[in-house]
Amino acid sequence: MDAPSPLPANWRPPPGPVFVLSGAGLSAASGIGTFRGPGGLWEGQRADELATPRAFRDDPDRVRRFYDARRAVVLAATPNPGHLALLRLQAAWGRERVHLVTQNVDGLFDVAADPTRNRTIEMHGSLLRLRCASDEDHPVVSPWPGAATAEQDPDVGCAVCGARLRPDVVWFGEVPDHVLLIHRLAIASRTFLSVGTSGVVYPAAGLVDKARQGGAVCIEVNPEPAGGAFHYVVAAPAETALPGLVDQWLGAA
Ligand code: APR
Repeated sequence: MDAPSPLPANWRPPPGPVFVLSGAGLSAASGIGTFRGPGGLWEGQRADELATPRAFRDDPDRVRRFYDARRAVVLAATPNPGHLALLRLQAAWGRERVHLVTQNVDGLFDVAADPTRNRTIEMHGSLLRLRCASDEDHPVVSPWPGAATAEQDPDVGCAVCGARLRPDVVWFGEVPDHVLLIHRLAIASRTFLSVGTSGVVYPAAGLVDKARQGGAVCIEVNPEPAGGAFHYVVAAPAETALPGLVDQWLGAA
């Protein structure tokens, strides 16, 4: 497979579905740190001690405090021009054509979304929801009561069975949400746009291969491109690259 080339300035998506996969890099400009690399959340902390079902079983209070701290950062954050550009593209071309799939659990797309025109698929869940730790069918506690508190009250249990509540996020070793739908959409896409993800966590990392096998043109937006089965790369931050890219795709530039 040839190495990706820079995206030509006048390139526009062919007719057909556009699949956007975003990762932590999309929210970096909103002040939410990424996971990997220098200064990343997983530097100096072990993911397997904080983001696995076992970690929760062994020390639920430690896991709760870790997510409380992340939630405090998220509740203080606002969407950046990268989020806004992707929402604009979806609003213009329709949510039947533009699929916004995110690994992020910060809910930042929702803050700026127009619910009549936008929809995001959160494959790793959301920090802004809690759910029963013992039974997936018990109702999610939603939405988060507001920015006034970032901390989960440990004394409030599941409304159905009283068990502990856990963040409604997907931990290592768990199956992402909506995974069949996401695979289907990736395979059917004609344009696959990856934004701000290191491409090391599966199954998200394998979606570009599915899309390429299905015939999509695959583009990566990342200041430090992770590589993989991409045709084209935009080696720039999402918040600076996406507004211009979307303008051009919409014929506004
Ligand atoms: N714009 C675009 N990309 C950026 C920016 C930016 N401003 N800043 C950093 N990046 C890129 C980095 O170069 C890196 O490739 O974002 C990527 C972030 O990678 P990770 O920290 O690994 O985040 P992500 O790929 O979303 O992680 C996947 O791992 O632990 C988990 O569940 C968590 O959903 C997460 C998953």
